[in-house]
Amino acid sequence: MTKHLNDIIATRRALLGGLAGLPLLNLAACATPSAAPPATSAHSAAANFASVAATNADTISLPPGYSWRPLIAWGDALFDTVSADFAPDTLTRTEQEQRFGQNNDMLALFSAEYAFPPPRETNRLILCANNEYAIPELMFPSVRAAADFTPAQAEAMYASVGVSIVELTRDGANWRVQKNAAPGQGKNRRITPFTPVRFTGPAANHRWIVAASEAVNTAEPGAPAGQVSCGTAANCAGGLTPWGTYLTAEENFDGLFVGRSSDISATSFSDQPYALDVLSHGYPGAYFPATLAPAPFRLAQNPYGPSLYGWVVEIDPHDPTAAPKKRTALGRKKNECANTAIGRDGRVAVYTGDDQRGEHLYKFVTRGRFDPANRAANMDLLDEGDLYAAQFLENGQGRWIKLTVDAANRAAEEQELTIRFADLGDMLMRVRDAARLLGATPMDRPEDVEPVIDHEWRGDGTVLIACTNNSERGFDAPGNPRRESPNQYTAQNNLPGHILRIDEADGDTSAERFSWDVFALCGDPDAQELTSRTRSGAPVHVSVSHDGEPTFTGDRFACPDNFFIDSGRRVWIATDGNDGVFGDCNDCVLATQVDAAAPRPVKRFLVAPVGAEVSGPTMTPDERAFLCAIQHPGSNDVTGADFTTLRWMGEAVPSHFPDGGDAWPRSAVVIVTRDDGGRIGD
Ligand code: FEO
Ligand code: CA
Ligand code: CA
Repeated sequence: MTKHLNDIIATRRALLGGLAGLPLLNLAACATPSAAPPATSAHSAAANFASVAATNADTISLPPGYSWRPLIAWGDALFDTVSADFAPDTLTRTEQEQRFGQNNDMLALFSAEYAFPPPRETNRLILCANNEYAIPELMFPSVRAAADFTPAQAEAMYASVGVSIVELTRDGANWRVQKNAAPGQGKNRRITPFTPVRFTGPAANHRWIVAASEAVNTAEPGAPAGQVSCGTAANCAGGLTPWGTYLTAEENFDGLFVGRSSDISATSFSDQPYALDVLSHGYPGAYFPATLAPAPFRLAQNPYGPSLYGWVVEIDPHDPTAAPKKRTALGRKKNECANTAIGRDGRVAVYTGDDQRGEHLYKFVTRGRFDPANRAANMDLLDEGDLYAAQFLENGQGRWIKLTVDAANRAAEEQELTIRFADLGDMLMRVRDAARLLGATPMDRPEDVEPVIDHEWRGDGTVLIACTNNSERGFDAPGNPRRESPNQYTAQNNLPGHILRIDEADGDTSAERFSWDVFALCGDPDAQELTSRTRSGAPVHVSVSHDGEPTFTGDRFACPDNFFIDSGRRVWIATDGNDGVFGDCNDCVLATQVDAAAPRPVKRFLVAPVGAEVSGPTMTPDERAFLCAIQHPGSNDVTGADFTTLRWMGEAVPSHFPDGGDAWPRSAVVIVTRDDGGRIGD
């Protein structure tokens, strides 16, 4: 069995501790001297603002000299055709298809006219926002329990996820949303789980996809030839390509599907790979009555429906008529992100994390090369290339394992397992199994995986990886960086998470070798004890030291989720679950420097309202405005109580963000600017 990353971290630490002073490379048989971090003259700018104090305030808290306002929120109309006031309880699918979606996650900004490299100054942008999932109780004020939920509301809820695309224009120093007259007139667009899309690449004609497409197109007729009305859903993070397209990553698609175990067993008796897929991804994950779900999401009617999700989907924000493309060459998993960098020879790397405990880190490298002079020539680069999974070695080195059908089948045979892959498409459909068979390292929920790129999109080989947390007790001791606590029973979990840095061999994002280190072991740099207590009373290991040295100083934080790396090589870290570890501070955004040596200075820049995670940190191209997504405000109260429980008990909603007063909370994109108009963080 392949070691979990945390066991490797601990072994590495033991090696360092026991043999201090010896060169690390001499300790391991498989050391690759050429994979040392590249010499770089890069230098990060300091984060130049006053830290924001920890707070549970139900608003956005910022350093002095900074201001915020909501840019757009769930339910805001994208078109003049929508004139009614927004009323969540009576929302219909048709109306939601013309309003900004729910639970905004990843944000990406594109210059309104494509140019490469992207212009630094522009007055018109296109914002792409993921809408990840919805919580009935937090969507409809009338819903206190599943029984209150109506089929019309359920359909509107499904239509509230996917992607929202809106034009932004600059009005003096301010950015504002540009409504379009009607769908199809301008760039504004909703892509929902009902939008026709195209499957491309090696798994496009996989037998599961063929069967599920037929079921979907019967339930949702009208898709153009060759397209499937399954749209996109469970859109967590994503990325941008140098050719000006948006990549949205489908993550927890299990939560879309309803059904009973008999619906699944009927199919799995005759299809063993399907049974394994059900176990791996955990569907059905929706908890409301099956009759409420739109037909494509009922496993009884569409048993292979889940094969339509878990992909990276490419969207052209410049062409609102273009069908989104599901790029099967990147593999099906709970994709957290899809961030790109151009390597030495012009091939493009796409980094993805599979955000489930014990899953893996991936990199896809295109076969073709990026052509900066010919946008059209790049539009299908993501259909052909090599897919790799990361294997971390104890000596601080690592390798990218190429996932091929022959190697995966050979590994299965050697391990005396009956699992086999029929062809490349079949392996990509079940890529987790291939990665595991070939020795990929299980990890603590790899979320955002962000390569550092320059203005011409060239990666320098530096990549940061957010490992949000791991709440699973039980795997073998040495290893979890939290397991250095003397209290072996209370320190098994990695609740605060950590950030890894990898340096690709020779600074090339197409490399098959890398070196790695712990960039930040999240926790409290000022903690007097190794362990603390969460607000629910659970013990949590909060020391930030790794290899006996603190990884950072400054403001404590937990559960890193998404990154933005600015042109000054500052890294902006958004959290998802900080309040679960440090109860006196809602989720937040912090800044540090990519190139600073440990202990890195960390400063808190923004604190979100109650019960919200922060996602999608980004900046306008001139870096004079910072944007982030405030997702699900009010989903818990400041004691950590979950809103679905509070609602069932008849309690009031714990957040009124962004409208204030007694308003129903709405997920929203906020924009932050400096009062003097300067660059963020300078
Ligand atoms: Fe959608 Fe992995 O957070
Ligand atoms: Ca996330
Ligand atoms: Ca998250």
